[in-house]
Amino acid sequence: MIVLGIETSCDETAAALVTDRREILKSLVLSQLEEHAPYGGIVPEIAARAHIDHLDGLIARTMEHVGIQFKDLDGVAVTAGPGLIGAVMVGLMTGKALSAVHELDFSAVNHLEGHALSARLCDHDLTFPYLLLLVSGGHCQLLIVNGVANYKRLGTTVDDAAGEAFDKAAKLLNLGYPGGPAIEKASEMGDGKRFALPRPLLGRAGCNFSFSGLKTSLLHKTQSLGDNLTASTRMDLAASFQSAVVDVIVDRCQHAINMYRKIHPTGNFLVAGGGVVANSALRSKLECLARKNELQLSLPPLSLCTDNAAMIAWAGIERLKLGFKENLNFAPRARWPLDLSAEPPPGAGPVGKLGPKA
Ligand code: KG4
Ligand code: ZN
Repeated sequence: MIVLGIETSCDETAAALVTDRREILKSLVLSQLEEHAPYGGIVPEIAARAHIDHLDGLIARTMEHVGIQFKDLDGVAVTAGPGLIGAVMVGLMTGKALSAVHELDFSAVNHLEGHALSARLCDHDLTFPYLLLLVSGGHCQLLIVNGVANYKRLGTTVDDAAGEAFDKAAKLLNLGYPGGPAIEKASEMGDGKRFALPRPLLGRAGCNFSFSGLKTSLLHKTQSLGDNLTASTRMDLAASFQSAVVDVIVDRCQHAINMYRKIHPTGNFLVAGGGVVANSALRSKLECLARKNELQLSLPPLSLCTDNAAMIAWAGIERLKLGFKENLNFAPRARWPLDLSAEPPPGAGPVGKLGPKA
């Protein structure tokens, strides 16, 4: 089975061809960093237009590289949300058109399910149910993955996502965008113990996350340094910030492991997905945590952590194999929780209570 994956939920245009034998035949990702750089953040309208400009060519290059025709495909899998609605629409309409013209099976994939199943693309031994840490620019959750399309959320962020916190901290420290890699690079030369930044919710019951207090504390610290904010102090601040974020994530994971063990006494996998899992400090702390709890750790390679279309193709393969096919009137979704029964986080407001539109 060969499936074409398409991803356009945010600021990466991506296409990939993946087989059900876990082979990534080709995966291309085109970043829009330059288009958004002058505005200091992602501009949704620019993202959608850039996807329109590049997606067709990217798909053509992917197909040419592998040397196959659309008629040789077994399906098309496209991110249908959550994300920037205009950006999602570009990929979704393209996927629907390819599916209609070439009579291909069509899979509308939840971007978060792409991250959630990405470890299974490389790890043959990873079986359900597993505990998943999902940390990206827009999401920060701990879930039990009982199976494809079957998720139980244990915890989520009550304010910022971890990646968002990295991005905001990097902006504050003038380190550039995306913030995660910039903070990680600066941290390599910094002293993570120099500044005692807070660890929100550390040790508290449950496994929700909070990062806004940490971000505010970094802001105050930066302001109080004034003219003493040298390049080396900025590196120390970056390292101190990264170490606080990693400590919080690891503590929340420990609480989630305890919950997972109660629900599934024989469950033995800790899995992570999403852009923040590209962070090497986090990866090595997760290794220690898994060892301490005698769990098998499954982390996708870096290229499958940040947004890509191979994970969307793979999620499509998993779904199509189980008979989940969508028809071509599937609507794009700006919001689309994996666990539809989960309560919105405290303080989410009316928007947080909105479910997906059919
Ligand atoms: O999964 P992803 O590519 O896109 C979303 O679905 O949001 O995640 C992007 C996020 C950004 O916030 C970025 O700063 C963060 O992942 N990120 C990192 C690293 N690489 C990307 N955070 C920490 N360390 C990294 N090395
Ligand atoms: Zn993502």
